[in-house]
Amino acid sequence: GTQELTADPGGIAQAADFLRQGLLVAFPTETVYGLGGDARNGQAVASIYEAKGRPRFNPLIAHVASVEAAQRFVQWSDLAEQLAQAFWPGPLTLVLPLRERHGVSSLVTAGLDTLAVRVPAHPTARALLADFDGPVAAPSANPSGQISPTTAAHVWSGLGGRIAAVLDDGPCAVGLESTIVGLAGEPTLLRPGGVALDRIESVLNLHLHLHQSGDLLTAPGQLQSHYAPDAPVRLNATARHGDEVLLGFGAVDCDLNLSVQGRLTEAAANLFAALHRLNETGRPIAVSPIPNTGLGAAINDRLRRAAAPRDS
Ligand code: TXA
Ligand code: MG
Repeated sequence: GTQELTADPGGIAQAADFLRQGLLVAFPTETVYGLGGDARNGQAVASIYEAKGRPRFNPLIAHVASVEAAQRFVQWSDLAEQLAQAFWPGPLTLVLPLRERHGVSSLVTAGLDTLAVRVPAHPTARALLADFDGPVAAPSANPSGQISPTTAAHVWSGLGGRIAAVLDDGPCAVGLESTIVGLAGEPTLLRPGGVALDRIESVLNLHLHLHQSGDLLTAPGQLQSHYAPDAPVRLNATARHGDEVLLGFGAVDCDLNLSVQGRLTEAAANLFAALHRLNETGRPIAVSPIPNTGLGAAINDRLRRAAAPRDS
């Protein structure tokens, strides 16, 4: 069975022990809950793919405790330094050329010669990484293609029984996955996320290339249909049709509101929990228009994928 661990020193030590044993532990980060395994243990990494039902061509992010730890694995650069100084620890992932694997399984990189690295800011994630003292491979702790988890309860409902433990530390503050910037070639936005694009561009003083969705070589994980509730999702809705529940933004009459005051950071923090809740109604979901500025770009990215046609 899956153990529920509280985010106190005892629970964190137990979680680190599970990781050392090659077992999987879901843990909180400031973005979403991650499904962690020892990145140097091929069996552990294989079981991450298996627990999520994730295709093996979709590489994982290595979570590390510090900039210095990241630099052991990847080729550092001036741009990497500027972004790390500005946004680490925090909701930013950098994809850089591999320097030295130090045992990191080739399953983590899915055969690529780049590695995605991130230093999370959440105190419990940091304490876990410090205790474990090695790279932790961690995708979002949800079955592949489904809504990402921002609470331990979301993790339970998706992966309960399939992993060793869930380290519970309440809801995630940011609520959207990290922004991913590719620095192996031209600086490229691989996934919009918790750090808004304009903040990254103003630190680097340049424009990022915008990744074209469907380009499997640069961002293998950016599958069209993702974050998908069971029911259909309709975007830019100004009123309910038929049986729909309306997910609102701003001063609108709706079933659930992402942010009554129209605040994008609040809407981001509420997004996945709202989709989980509306999904439980079993009714089709309509969503109010959301401005595409700042974090709105990442929110709209997730909503477009939630609304995309499904394979099955
Ligand atoms: O906020 C986050 O990033 C969360 C928390 C747990 O840290 N993690 C997360 O992981 O969102 P995941 O696996 O759900 O998304 C990682 C994305 C995938 O789209 C994957 O394709 C991409 O990162 N990725 C990983 N390694 C890559 C690489 N070497 N090159 C390009 N894309 C990569
Ligand atoms: Mg994910």
